[in-house]
Amino acid sequence: MTGDNAYTELAAASVCGLAPYEPGKPPEALEREYGVRDAIKLASNENPFGAADSVRAAMRDAIDNVRLYPDGAGFALCKALSQHLGVDPAQLTLGNGSNDILVLLAECFLTPETSAVYDRYSFVVYRLAVQATGAEARIASSNAPDHAQPFGHDLDAMLALVDETTRLVFIANPNNPTGTWVDSEMLHDFLRALPDHVIAVVDEAYYEYAVGEDYPDTLTWLDQFPNLVILRTFSKAYGLAGLRVGYGISAPGIAELLNRVRQPFNVNSVAQAAAVQALAEQDWVENCRANNRHCMDGLRTGLEALGIACLPSRGNFLLAYVGSRAADCNEYLLRAGVIVRPVANYGLPEYLRITVGGEQDIACLLEALAEFMGKGA
Ligand SMILES: Cc1ncc(COP(=O)(O)O)c(C=O)c1O
Repeated sequence: MTGDNAYTELAAASVCGLAPYEPGKPPEALEREYGVRDAIKLASNENPFGAADSVRAAMRDAIDNVRLYPDGAGFALCKALSQHLGVDPAQLTLGNGSNDILVLLAECFLTPETSAVYDRYSFVVYRLAVQATGAEARIASSNAPDHAQPFGHDLDAMLALVDETTRLVFIANPNNPTGTWVDSEMLHDFLRALPDHVIAVVDEAYYEYAVGEDYPDTLTWLDQFPNLVILRTFSKAYGLAGLRVGYGISAPGIAELLNRVRQPFNVNSVAQAAAVQALAEQDWVENCRANNRHCMDGLRTGLEALGIACLPSRGNFLLAYVGSRAADCNEYLLRAGVIVRPVANYGLPEYLRITVGGEQDIACLLEALAEFMGKGA
């Protein structure tokens, strides 16, 4: 037996190499560990406005029926999504968060004989999902720091790693933790160059924040690229992260395969009811998007005034360059009751990722940061 854990030798080799996902610290943990109450959480890219009243009401109504299993096929939610997106319900896969679909994709298409490609600084769950299958992870180098999209996806570098063993390629658009994005033309060229046996997973978790300008309208490409899978979620702009609902949009054939490995009741009934109602609240989403852009400008300006530069971002977060004191800064902020996200586990130890909260949250964060930097009032 090796190490502290007597069961390690018994586990699948692919699992032994995994490090568990490190989530943003919940406010309760800060209270337990530091005795700090009422912490502000800017660590997991949640929507500071949450969900509309009608969505909360739908959740309360759904609670009356939780003794029953949910609709395993998610009929009402698939119908509402198909109307909202203009796709056939057979093109949809519901997930316990879009995270679930990432794992389903890996489970479905990856074996130790295959490979998957993702960017060096991309969302960490790609690595976890790929490694757990024993498939070869091919990690593409990112854009250089002086690129217009620093540390963003270099699609040519990703394409160069694709060969006949490759089954999945993951593109986060915009990417977490960098906030960087790929524009419509670049992504379209990439998809055209990708061989048919490779599934392009375009992760649009921040779609509702990013949409507009040069952002790709990938839904309109599904007919042209049968190997395209688009992932979206109710966790971000829809303000329902705690409920865990996401979905995939693809060719029916891919959705049918994903549904074979999907757990029968992976999306609970309260989440399904809330998501249906959330889709009907597009004005709410639009307000959240507008607020995010306004508050992000304020956050960026405030950080710049403290000498902290940020990467361009189309999400609801900024990747801020704090320098060699980033870990100390994070610790200082925790003690001041502000939780941000250190990203050393992404290989970016000099940066902190900061979710764009409400104006009050941002003011508290900037005040604590100014104190840390010795620039407080
Ligand atoms: C790029 C990206 N993809 C997927 C997810 C997973 O989101 P969820 O499982 O909550 O839908 C996240 C969450 O932070 C993310 O940043």
